Amino acid sequence: MRLSTTIGTLFTLLAGVTKADSNTPSIKVNGNAFFDGKTGTRFYIRGVDYQPGGSSNLTDPLADADNCKRDIPVFQDLGINTIRVYSVDNSKDHSDCMQELQKAGIYLILDVNTPHASLSRIDPECSYNANYLQSVFATVDAFAQYDNVLGFFAGNEVINEANNTFTAPYVKAVVRDMKKYMKARSYRAIPVGYSAADISSNRELAAEYFNCGDDADARVDMFGVNDYSWCGNSDFQKSGYATKMQLYENYSIPIFLSEFGCNQGVTDGRPFTEIGAIYSKNMSSVFSGGLVYEYSSEANDYGLVEIDGDSVTKSNDYQNLKKQYAAHSDPSGDGGYSSDKKYSNCPSYKKDVWEANNTLPEMPSAASAYFKKGAGTPQGTKAYTQNDCGSDVHVVPAGGGNDSGSNSTLSSSSSSSSGNNTSTSTSTSTSKSDSQSSSASTKSTNSKTASIITSTRGSSTTSGHKKSKGAGPALEIPGFFSAMTELMAVIL
Ligand SMILES: *[C@@H]1O[C@H](CO)[C@@H](O)[C@H](O)[C@H]1NC(C)=O
Ligand SMILES: *[C@@H]1O[C@H](CO)[C@@H](O)[C@H](O)[C@H]1NC(C)=O
Ligand SMILES: *[C@@H]1O[C@H](CO)[C@@H](O)[C@H](O)[C@H]1NC(C)=O
Ligand SMILES: *[C@@H]1O[C@H](CO)[C@@H](O)[C@H](O)[C@H]1NC(C)=O
Ligand SMILES: *[C@@H]1O[C@H](CO)[C@@H](O)[C@H](O)[C@H]1NC(C)=O
Ligand SMILES: *[C@@H]1O[C@H](CO)[C@@H](O)[C@H](O)[C@H]1NC(C)=O
Ligand SMILES: *[C@@H]1O[C@H](CO)[C@@H](O)[C@H](O)[C@H]1NC(C)=O
Ligand SMILES: *[C@@H]1O[C@H](CO)[C@@H](O)[C@H](O)[C@H]1NC(C)=O
Ligand SMILES: *[C@@H]1O[C@H](CO)[C@@H](O)[C@H](O)[C@H]1NC(C)=O
Repeated sequence: MRLSTTIGTLFTLLAGVTKADSNTPSIKVNGNAFFDGKTGTRFYIRGVDYQPGGSSNLTDPLADADNCKRDIPVFQDLGINTIRVYSVDNSKDHSDCMQELQKAGIYLILDVNTPHASLSRIDPECSYNANYLQSVFATVDAFAQYDNVLGFFAGNEVINEANNTFTAPYVKAVVRDMKKYMKARSYRAIPVGYSAADISSNRELAAEYFNCGDDADARVDMFGVNDYSWCGNSDFQKSGYATKMQLYENYSIPIFLSEFGCNQGVTDGRPFTEIGAIYSKNMSSVFSGGLVYEYSSEANDYGLVEIDGDSVTKSNDYQNLKKQYAAHSDPSGDGGYSSDKKYSNCPSYKKDVWEANNTLPEMPSAASAYFKKGAGTPQGTKAYTQNDCGSDVHVVPAGGGNDSGSNSTLSSSSSSSSGNNTSTSTSTSTSKSDSQSSSASTKSTNSKTASIITSTRGSSTTSGHKKSKGAGPALEIPGFFSAMTELMAVIL
């Protein structure tokens, strides 16, 4: 009687978490590792970053059933279990693609930002407003139902230089708000993380900061590092991977490579020999796999495949990667993970090094309404929440050599529709308007912009990373914004 009650309870608990017949039982975090929610085996991310069109033709790849039909068999052929998508349109229907991914046993890590609804590096306080959170929460609403959502990234490389660590408290506030939102809405506790640029001066500080403090809601559940330090036929020591193993040896939560795949000095296809290291016991006690940058070939030339309409052409890179995956299965057993590490100590504020306070900004009060009723109608790409928050670019690292972020230059030009398409955000009940950047209203009318992050690290490679999407038409959304601004922000 007692036994069967216990078993019954267990069964109910399990059933509540994952459908018995799902190919993608939800992934759980335990200690510094991921585990399959059904079998309890350790889960390693074997994945690719997936955003066909890149930022020059930013398109929601999970809203197009035909594209998913084209690409999912390729994912299966390659042998991956996860994709990362940088941006979606939360007003679109994703059920088709999500179900196809589920059938194929493929998980999703989803960044919750769009170019126009994201934090501004110039004026993060201004951009951390209720309209922005509406966009984030509506994305959570749109995806929380799928058991194959492995996790959300609250931000990607918001800190991308030594000099913009002051943005960190706002990113961490978004992490906190997302986790509280999911609780309030009774969603599954989908892991929330941050994907960090590899910047030598704050690499360790950032990892600690996002995983520190007594408020568990404000700590990330997983940490992604965009790391381009293994180039060509490097090795565990030479690449710096060994050093990173030491650096993160006490990290209490899962850490993984949210982008990797340096192409510096590589001529005939990346050999992807790092796969052998990543999925070996050399690394499995600390790292939980990673995502290769990137599936499709875009302007910056990191693609594994070339897409032309319905056809997909696989490159040498692709074939090499496929071979490497096939040759290196996951480490046996639990991979030596740790379940007993404590969260990090908060780094203290240090001028010019770590300018992030451990007191996080309070959530804009207007956003609390969403906790009770949900985020409401998703605004998709019509959400323009950075009105007057300064021009900004969000980019991924150049992917050239070690420590790409620390010696990269941003060449950005802001763009906007002029005049009254800016300003007068009705966004929040807080006093953020005081801090709004005055530069925003003087932006040029040229709506086509390109922001290129150029790596000068190492030798030759100039990796134009993702160009921004041009401005769309000005949009008025009654009751949501009183005005719109084109605010250049490349999130990729
Ligand atoms: C942009 O992406 C869409 C959707 O994949 C595609 O139909 C369109 O042709 C692309 N446009 C350009 C200019 O590549
Ligand atoms: C940070 O440094 C870059 C140059 O590396 C510069 O373009 C940017 O304006 C600086 N940002 C801030 C907030 O000072
Ligand atoms: C990890 O913890 C151990 C034991 O406390 C300590 O000796 C070691 O220095 C720590 N490593 C790092 C990188 O902080
Ligand atoms: C594991 O580390 C050892 C010691 O550095 C190294 O000799 C070996 O090649 C590494 N194995 C892999 C698969 O990287
Ligand atoms: C940290 O934030 C708190 C609250 O906003 C503020 O009182 C304090 O002065 C800040 N400290 C630093 C070093 O900025
Ligand atoms: C990466 O860093 C390691 C150690 O700092 C160095 O030995 C190696 O040459 C670097 N690789 C590249 C491509 O810069
Ligand atoms: C912008 O708004 C101001 C005042 O609201 C008005 O005087 C000005 O003519 C408007 N400019 C444009 C381009 O509509
Ligand atoms: C950064 O790039 C510049 C060239 O723009 C170069 O002179 C400098 O040595 C580089 N610094 C590092 C640390 O690689
Ligand atoms: C707002 O921007 C759109 C295009 O982005 C433009 O067509 C429109 O004239 C602009 N309106 C004002 C008042 O500047």
